[in-house]
Amino acid sequence: MLAISHLRVSYGITEVLRDVSFEVQTGSIVALLGGNGSGKTTILNTLIGVVQAKSGSIQFEDAECVGLSTNQLVKRGISLVPQGREVWPSMSVKDNVELGAATRKDWADIKVDLESVYDLFPKLAIRRTQLAGALSGGEQQMVAIGRALMARPRCLLMDEPSAGLAPNIVGDMVDTILALNKRGLTILLVEQNIGVAAAVAQSAHILENGAIAFSGPAAGLIDNPAVLLSYLGR
Ligand SMILES: Nc1ncnc2c1ncn2[C@@H]1O[C@H](COP(=O)(O)OP(=O)(O)O)[C@@H](O)[C@H]1O
Ligand SMILES: [Mg+2]
Repeated sequence: MLAISHLRVSYGITEVLRDVSFEVQTGSIVALLGGNGSGKTTILNTLIGVVQAKSGSIQFEDAECVGLSTNQLVKRGISLVPQGREVWPSMSVKDNVELGAATRKDWADIKVDLESVYDLFPKLAIRRTQLAGALSGGEQQMVAIGRALMARPRCLLMDEPSAGLAPNIVGDMVDTILALNKRGLTILLVEQNIGVAAAVAQSAHILENGAIAFSGPAAGLIDNPAVLLSYLGR
């Protein structure tokens, strides 16, 4: 289980996370929603050690994570698919994906994991020698997910994986998220697309101005106009 309690984060004197608490049960998918600037990415960046917590606790599998470096957190089994994918356009698909194994030295297993990424994303197998910059947005998102999987995570943090994808590809992303969960991954999914969140997650939390404004079953979100209007502005 991933348990976040009373988390506070500031950038300089500006507090951007105010007493955030929620849990992600092992094997579940939890969605984190909220408007632009509400603090979603800051939560994921704190969970992966890119941003430091000012106070509060983050427990993963019963061990404290606050104060650990990104490398240590990745070794503990947490991995991030960052917002905007952040693939290296002038590197090949294969080299981008292998970057996710940068901290590993178990070469034989790395090879097995690379093949398992290609199993999940056959399109990447076909395009493994092509430059990542030549791929479509959906394929670049596959590269970003594949790279995160190369760290052999048990918990995957995904920051708006459906953003910027063509509408006909968004359904494929839903299938991908469900397939990852079926492979045993616990997933914390940041989304602006409520349909995607409702299709995959068991529970959802809506972040408003750095604080959790609503928590409930994800399936109910889409039928809750009051929630949508007040917290997401749509
Ligand atoms: N590196 C940073 N330095 C200062 N302020 C930041 C930084 N990153 C994000 N912020 C601010 O923190 C708030 C939350 O941002 P973010 O976590 O990116 O929100 P979201 O992902 O929900 O859009 C916003 O007001 C944003 O402008
Ligand atoms: Mg963000």
